[in-house]
Amino acid sequence: MSAAGDVNPTTTPAPWRIQIEGGAEFTLAADEDTLLRGALRAGVPWPYECSVGGCGACRFDVLDGLMQTLWEAAPGLSERERKRGKRLACQSRPGGDCRVKVRLDPPAAGAMASRPPVRRMATLLARRPVTPDMDEFCFQLPEGDAGEFIAGQYALLYPPELGSPRAYSMANVPSERGSNPTVWRFVIRQVPGGVGSGLLFGLTPGAQLPIDGPYGHGHLQPGTRDVVCIAGGSGLGPMLSVARGVLAEPGTRRVHFFLGLRTQAELSAVKELDGLDPARLRLHTVLSSPSAEAPWVGPTGFVHEEAERTLAQPLAAHDFYFAGPPRMVEAVQEMLMLRHRVPFEQIHFDRFI
Ligand SMILES: Cc1cc2nc3c(=O)[nH]c(=O)nc-3n(C[C@H](O)[C@H](O)[C@H](O)COP(=O)(O)OP(=O)(O)OC[C@H]3O[C@@H](n4cnc5c(N)ncnc54)[C@H](O)[C@@H]3O)c2cc1C
Ligand code: FES
Repeated sequence: MSAAGDVNPTTTPAPWRIQIEGGAEFTLAADEDTLLRGALRAGVPWPYECSVGGCGACRFDVLDGLMQTLWEAAPGLSERERKRGKRLACQSRPGGDCRVKVRLDPPAAGAMASRPPVRRMATLLARRPVTPDMDEFCFQLPEGDAGEFIAGQYALLYPPELGSPRAYSMANVPSERGSNPTVWRFVIRQVPGGVGSGLLFGLTPGAQLPIDGPYGHGHLQPGTRDVVCIAGGSGLGPMLSVARGVLAEPGTRRVHFFLGLRTQAELSAVKELDGLDPARLRLHTVLSSPSAEAPWVGPTGFVHEEAERTLAQPLAAHDFYFAGPPRMVEAVQEMLMLRHRVPFEQIHFDRFI
């Protein structure tokens, strides 16, 4: 076998054998697009968070074999790490049999073994506006595909003609599969200048798209404490899923839902919570930049500050779920972990990198 390197030729026919230093070994199918996704599909508990090159959680070393890097400038690695030969499994594709070094993540094994991600062709059934720049996209999965996931997980959508997928969180709950056909719903924001979201907003009903999932660890956990959901912008999607998941349980835990929007123009998003049991869900809507030209008597500022102001103390009496832009996620983490000493196992989040 050749020395570890960045070259791309195929030296042995796929499927390839991937050996992890210290024991585990798995086979990577010929049509697998990355090392990470192949490992997860094989039930290997490879550490990861975002699946799209942003977080660095999936970093590893190549000890032997050929490995192609898909996105050289992925922000999940620093220049120093790149120089030291580190790689991201979600941005690497083997070119033959390989030997690699990574510290596996055994706690993730259980969830993955019962629901390994599946890549399938989905059909866009419907699209409707949620706010001026966010739409709900409803995708139908193929006949017989149960589309199992845990509330709060995400999927990878492959926008047409774009080589790399983008991550979007399901906004519904898996029990909606009782309806026929199985659907996955996503609340997607059209990012100004964003390549992937721009292509998705060009889709019309009937369009077909590869969708791979479920992924993610920031999902709903069983428990008895009341749940706090903090959603920043398009973080609304996964928080709706978590809230729906809690309310679908027979238990009595309640949901404190904090929805952070920018201006009154986005208040139409509030309608997404219509129909959720008001006896068990309390909604707090916060505007960060309300316009002086339209009425607003509710709270203003950062959404997590409103949560800190209004929740009963100690905050550790609740389980926390949050999703949104990286700056919001960091601010919530700091509030919970540093200022309020909420135990790590009560904190579940997705950073929209
Ligand atoms: C776990 C998770 C869940 C998310 N859930 C949602 C959601 O429910 N709703 C929502 O609106 N947004 C969500 N996002 C954000 C979403 O994935 C996109 O980042 C966002 O839509 C902007 O994508 P874009 O292509 O329009 O923008 P761009 O600025 O063009 O690209 C944004 C991201 O795409 C990836 N990327 C860029 N270039 C490359 C490349 N050459 N190769 C590979 N990858 C590249 C990077 O991750 C980059 O940060 C989520 C993100 C994550 C990580
Ligand atoms: S999982 Fe690979 S960089 Fe986030």
